Amino acid sequence: MTGETTHRLGVLGSGKGSNFVAIAEACAAGSIPARVAVVLSDVAEAGILGRARALGIPAHYLPPGPYRTKLDEAAEAAYVAALKAAAVDWVLLAGFMRILKGAFLRAFPGRVLNIHPSLLPAFPGLEAWRQALEYGVKVTGVTVHLVDQGVDTGPIVRQGAVAIHDDDTPETLHHRLQQTEHDLYPAALNLLLSGQWAVRGRRVVGTGPAGKGGQPQP
Ligand code: GAR
Repeated sequence: MTGETTHRLGVLGSGKGSNFVAIAEACAAGSIPARVAVVLSDVAEAGILGRARALGIPAHYLPPGPYRTKLDEAAEAAYVAALKAAAVDWVLLAGFMRILKGAFLRAFPGRVLNIHPSLLPAFPGLEAWRQALEYGVKVTGVTVHLVDQGVDTGPIVRQGAVAIHDDDTPETLHHRLQQTEHDLYPAALNLLLSGQWAVRGRRVVGTGPAGKGGQPQP
């Protein structure tokens, strides 16, 4: 696809939705050739639903089923159906705290993107900022990656480093990570929507004109 297509995004989130807002604002400003067509959440009272509705974007709570860390088969089918009904061509996980597998990924092959608050492969899983702080690393960061069958293992699109301060708390560190997230997620999405990229091993590389596609040098 070319950068002139207006893509339709489906966003899944379980939390307050600040990454969703960053994406929606970038779309509205014309810096991403897309619009958010639907927002889905597994948490009825999640802030992301209210923030989407306030922007006039359809937003639905879809019950996840009985498991704590994944969707059951029926729920997965309901999520796929809602995304297909909204005719989305990319699915963005923005703080969606359940693992998506098999049928869901087959419905959107290579078109599911996630943001994770660490420099993967370090600190996959929950509360990665707390893991980094407890481990004692001096630098952590944010990763945007394509989703595959593993947990936080898919090809890496972009990463941004964030220094850890001696006096950081989990809250101050997560706050700084989120500021990086809000720049990194739209930038990573823009690369993918340009179509000028390829997967090489575990890395997504830009194939467009120099300086436009790949990870900017620090
Ligand atoms: C973000 O920090 C995101 O990286 C994290 O949840 C937060 C959601 O914030 N995701 C994960 O930890 C996924 N493993 P938001 O609701 O304000 O976008």
